[in-house]
Amino acid sequence: MAETAKIIFDGQEFEYPVFTGSEGEKAIDISKLRGQTGLITLDPGYKNTGATKSAITFLDGENGILRYRGYSIEDLAEKADFLGVAYLLIYGELPNKEQYDNFVGGITRHTLVNEDMRKIFDGFPVNAHPMGVMSSLVSAMCGFYPELFDKSKEENIDHHIVRLMAKLPTLATWCYKKSQGHPINYPQNKLDYCSNFLHMMFALPVEDYHVDPVVASALNKLLILHADHEQNCSTSTVRLVGSSQANLYSSISAGISALWGPLHGGANQEVIEMLEAIKADGGNVKKYIDMAKDKNSNFRLMGFGHRVYKNFDPRARIIKKAADDVLEKLGVNDPILDIARGLEEAALKDDYFVSRKLYPNVDFYSGIIYRALGIPVNMFTVMFAIGRLPGWIAQWLELRNEGQAIGRPRQIYTGHTAREFVPIENR
Ligand code: SDX
Repeated sequence: MAETAKIIFDGQEFEYPVFTGSEGEKAIDISKLRGQTGLITLDPGYKNTGATKSAITFLDGENGILRYRGYSIEDLAEKADFLGVAYLLIYGELPNKEQYDNFVGGITRHTLVNEDMRKIFDGFPVNAHPMGVMSSLVSAMCGFYPELFDKSKEENIDHHIVRLMAKLPTLATWCYKKSQGHPINYPQNKLDYCSNFLHMMFALPVEDYHVDPVVASALNKLLILHADHEQNCSTSTVRLVGSSQANLYSSISAGISALWGPLHGGANQEVIEMLEAIKADGGNVKKYIDMAKDKNSNFRLMGFGHRVYKNFDPRARIIKKAADDVLEKLGVNDPILDIARGLEEAALKDDYFVSRKLYPNVDFYSGIIYRALGIPVNMFTVMFAIGRLPGWIAQWLELRNEGQAIGRPRQIYTGHTAREFVPIENR
């Protein structure tokens, strides 16, 4: 017997089907609600609203579970490589050897960026925030592939997926090199994805650059941990833009902009700046815990809390352990790691955080590793975007393949009711 939910309104009873997902999650299908009752639902921030069914990523916020296409994040972070995970998210299965080699080979051969993109890039001031530059450059990419808009020649979307996966890291390193006043490095096809990124970031023409395998491995893990996270703010943005049948580059560019916000991907930069401020203030953890609890302080414990996780973010657990390993292997002693640990310990004993189920999220420890890898703070959210790219692509593709209708939420109007125009002389 199919489950239903009833609404009693205006003296009438309305019954709606309840949909159950593969993990037992349940939703009321209200697609006929307005037509039958004249009612819509109101849910600012969509805290209780499902925008779609999806087969890509499963989160269980109460139990701190995260799986990509059924594979646990713990397994993937430990055993997979980022491009294999990207293939899994985008195409639904872990690639066999041939599929993997074709995917990786295509990405390797598309890491070069059209030289005319440099003219756009060169127009940015040296201190332009990399997230603004990246969103602009990715949007500009659609100008270089006119076949994207020629329906008769609708090129295989896989080519554009490969181009985005291949070129995003290259563009990211342009931002860093310019900020350092260093020459831009070209990609090296003999290097793997993470090593190529590190080489483009840190190699200098005056000496050989050798990729530290510890650093490459840590980067691989961080990118996997950021690869998808179901219907978060930036992914929902990518899906909404894609639902109007805008092209993939424009949709991803919008996702980069949404990720930039300090409440979302921008939090990893905010966390480090917060930890640095606490360190500069003598490491007074209690003062900042008290500020975070004080509504009048406008201070939030960045990297803490999550819309879905009401338990430890499983990614934070993995990153926290990786931070210990990487800093030890690199011989880095970063005092803000101790401050982070102190904050976490104090918060998890404090009823304000416990009662609100506020735990460290993915952003709380990630910046400490990025910093140990030599990546500057203003590039942290760019690193999040590079990791999240396959997830955005997978979600955009799922929406397009399912032919979903254009996203167009309703509203409840609360402004002026009808009124007569008043000529200016009478105002
Ligand atoms: C990401 O959605 C995703 O999946 C995102 C992400 C992904 O992979 O895509 O996981 C990546 O964005 C992680 C989150 C990074 N953001 C931060 O670390 C910023 C700090 N955290 C928050 O601002 C907040 O926790 C959010 C934005 C993450 C979640 O906000 P919600 O779900 O809207 O919760 P809320 O703001 O309504 O908070 C509930 C209560 C409030 O107190 P009361 O009104 O009940 O008294 O908890 C308090 C908030 O004031 N609260 C915090 C807090 N986070 C929430 N108080 C102090 N410090 C915090 N960090």
